[in-house]
Amino acid sequence: MSSELPISEDDLAALATQFFAAGFRPGNDSPPQSVPPAPRGSVPDTTSASSIATTAAGLGTRPAVTGGYSPTAFAHFAIPTGIVPTIPGVLASPAPAVPSAPNDSFAAAVPALVFEPVPRVSYSHEIFDVHAIRADFPILRETVNGKPLIWFDNAATTQKPQAVIDRLAYFYAHENSNIHRAAHELAARATDAYEEARDTVRRFIGAPKSENIIFVRGTTEAINLVAQSWGAKNLEPGDEIVITHLEHHANIVPWQMISKKTGAVLKVAPVDDAGNLLLQEFEELLGPRTKLVSATQVSNALGTVNPVEKIVAMAHRYGARVLIDGAQSIPHIAVDVSKTGADFFVFSGHKIFGPTGIGVVYMTDEVMAETPPWQGGGNMIADVTIERSIFQGPPNKYEAGTGNIADAVGLGEAIRYVEKVGIDRIAAYEHALLEYATPRLAAIPGVRLIGTADEKASVLSFVLAGHEPIEVGKALNAEGIAVRAGHHCAQPILRRMGVEQTVRPSFAFYNTFDEIDVFLDAVRRIADGGPPPGPISDRGAGRHGCGG
Ligand code: ALA
Repeated sequence: MSSELPISEDDLAALATQFFAAGFRPGNDSPPQSVPPAPRGSVPDTTSASSIATTAAGLGTRPAVTGGYSPTAFAHFAIPTGIVPTIPGVLASPAPAVPSAPNDSFAAAVPALVFEPVPRVSYSHEIFDVHAIRADFPILRETVNGKPLIWFDNAATTQKPQAVIDRLAYFYAHENSNIHRAAHELAARATDAYEEARDTVRRFIGAPKSENIIFVRGTTEAINLVAQSWGAKNLEPGDEIVITHLEHHANIVPWQMISKKTGAVLKVAPVDDAGNLLLQEFEELLGPRTKLVSATQVSNALGTVNPVEKIVAMAHRYGARVLIDGAQSIPHIAVDVSKTGADFFVFSGHKIFGPTGIGVVYMTDEVMAETPPWQGGGNMIADVTIERSIFQGPPNKYEAGTGNIADAVGLGEAIRYVEKVGIDRIAAYEHALLEYATPRLAAIPGVRLIGTADEKASVLSFVLAGHEPIEVGKALNAEGIAVRAGHHCAQPILRRMGVEQTVRPSFAFYNTFDEIDVFLDAVRRIADGGPPPGPISDRGAGRHGCGG
């Protein structure tokens, strides 16, 4: 192929990589002269003044945080006695004393599972003021069927704080432009906002450089990118990909597709009856042919938290690359990719209080060197002739076309919101909700919990004898309670647990103990054969819809 340039294509590609790594942007190579104040500072900070650091114990009031994240703002926070996260999201110490509340006596009736009912202590006041947090989420003031909305479908998607809603409006009102391509002021504003969001993601997940962060549509697209780009280049007939039985379809189907194309073999690490990954059996699957391990950090269907650091360490001992699916862990567990050591880490913005249609692939420099561009087009090229194209360096070379600029900016704002609350406090509070709900739900006659792993995030899948999950979901909806009922896009693990579908409440840090009580009362009424739900529309009740 002939080159029209005075230097070789390889040299030009190397130069382009250096340019873009150094922050060069075509048409915007000098600092704009009148970039507005940092957008966050201009957008009214709608984070509720009392939501973050006010505690019943008077630990302090929320410091003025006008420019967004302040690492020292909540330095005074201490997790209450008795709540000591071991791995993030998991409480080490035994639950406090069992309460004497009448409802708690039925725990003894559970035959197979022994849960220690934990009391309804005011974790909400000891950790943060959940009611002030709730004030930041306007949708939580909705009513459904005449009842206050109880949003227990957080594993499907999370609600958005006012700060994110305002940030999106601010972007379109003051910054909207395409990025990286023009000399004008709005291009500079939009580019700055987009790249700032990339850097916020980098900081939040502990990545070394923002060039390691690639924006995509969501977790599903992220895994497809890795499968179709890294996989197509690096997998050969007989190579092995190891996943776990806990995976979402988004972490199964792309590997089936690329296995078919390349002749690679897909292997599945088993779980026990509680939904714990069997680590020894996992390791026995690894060998010299293992090229990739792809595992979820948290199961969307069962809530199992996988030991990702051990998974990565084991896989690396066999020379395999590792992808960790963080779709369900990102809003619940502190993630540090440098510590975990994963080669790829992927997640979706909408699971962490950000917009839909935006997600992230983190790749180390090492795997980037093994991963060719995925899609071709504008934005990802340095130079194009009819005969050939020279690509930009990362991350642009993986971001062909006009990306989802506004929603990336919205994701950055969502992450700043989570940082202000504190991911460890979120983990501790949600764990308290889970510990409160689990024994009480299990004690309702006819309820069988599906997934009782040792380490769980706030997902409580269950079936109710004599009632189809979808009917339970509709009956709960009649009470204003949103849960997911169906196969959760994770059919293999549900079948492994002996069911086709479950009812799946999943909690976030804006949920309350009161809401759990309302939910438990509703399930008790359904179990007792209570009145059937009113005329509920089937809108949104499809069993087969899947979204990563
Ligand atoms: N993956 C999402 C869920 O688990 C859609 O509900």
